[in-house]
Amino acid sequence: MPDPRIVVLASGTGSLLQAIIDSSVREFVVAVGSDVPDAPALARAEAAEIPTFVVPMRADRNEWDRELSGQIRDWRPSLIVTAGFMRILGSEMVAEFTDRIINSHPALLPAFPGAHAVRDALAYGAKVTGCTVHLVDGGVDTGPIIAQQPVIIESDDTEESLHERIKEIERVLLVDVLSRVVREGVSVRGRSVTFGE
Ligand code: GRF
Repeated sequence: MPDPRIVVLASGTGSLLQAIIDSSVREFVVAVGSDVPDAPALARAEAAEIPTFVVPMRADRNEWDRELSGQIRDWRPSLIVTAGFMRILGSEMVAEFTDRIINSHPALLPAFPGAHAVRDALAYGAKVTGCTVHLVDGGVDTGPIIAQQPVIIESDDTEESLHERIKEIERVLLVDVLSRVVREGVSVRGRSVTFGE
């Protein structure tokens, strides 16, 4: 990927973002955006001297989409990474950045999509879950899968303990995928994603 420019979007504590900041991918991150003004993820970006922007959700969802898209475009990204970003990107943005938006999800997709993946896996009684790094398409966690790692569910797991074990694996997987994407690029044929252009 020539001149990689990454915008990371995060809503929460930002431990995935921190893993990116602590890796060789850091040099390609041009900005971090959030929908949550006091998200700890923003403080992590600021501590790493990465520019930040905030677009809080609006009553008018289309207005929010337009404002967020404008802020993202200003950074001329070649890649957008949603790392714990708890909002769905607008359809225009998804179309404009086809195969250039990467999301990290705390379950083995297509099992347990959506905002409560860890809770849902526990409630279902699954014995194995994990994490998925995938391209974003117009659906909710439905885009082509780039990489996955399993995590065993223990009988005494709580949502918190399981999510923490998933995130340990997720941070490594996301950084690994991003470093390969910026160096090698990705090819997408239907649902099949391979590294290299
Ligand atoms: C990750 O598990 C991500 O997949 C999910 O939210 C978590 C973000 O964690 N959507 P953090 O805010 O990066 O610590």
